[in-house]
Amino acid sequence: MIRSTAAAAFAAVAAFVASPALAADGAQLFAMQCKLCHQAASSPLAPSLAGVAGGKIAGRADFNYSPGLKAKGGTWTDANLNAWLTSPAAFSPGAKMVVNVPSAESRAAIIGYLKTLK
Ligand code: HEC
Repeated sequence: MIRSTAAAAFAAVAAFVASPALAADGAQLFAMQCKLCHQAASSPLAPSLAGVAGGKIAGRADFNYSPGLKAKGGTWTDANLNAWLTSPAAFSPGAKMVVNVPSAESRAAIIGYLKTLK
């Protein structure tokens, strides 16, 4: 019972992330909440997020990540991105990113947008 509810919830989130309208909202949320630090190219403030979705965690050579994130390993799956955006410090203690996104709906829209960054 619990398992099928979770599967249904996951399907709903997946459909949500795939929606082009929400990717547009994600673009807007990104412009307001992320772009201040995350530009097209990496800067001392933050790494570029081009290709980040599905890519290696702390995988860029042109940014000096926190030791914890560098040692984390794995890839930026939807679940990892969701956990990171919920609380960078909980995902990786000592994380240099201090911003978080409390709304699950906003996180889903932003993750949809991150997938468009190549
Ligand atoms: C105040 C600056 C700042 C803002 C605003 C910010 N970030 Fe970050 N972000 C960082 C820094 C710094 C890192 C590197 C973290 C570390 O090394 O621990 C990072 C890392 C990341 C990573 C991991 C990148 C990688 O190469 O592994 C993702 C994904 C990310 N941010 C997404 C976002 C999103 C989405 C937003 C908007 C909701 C956002 N960030 C807002 C500074 C920021």
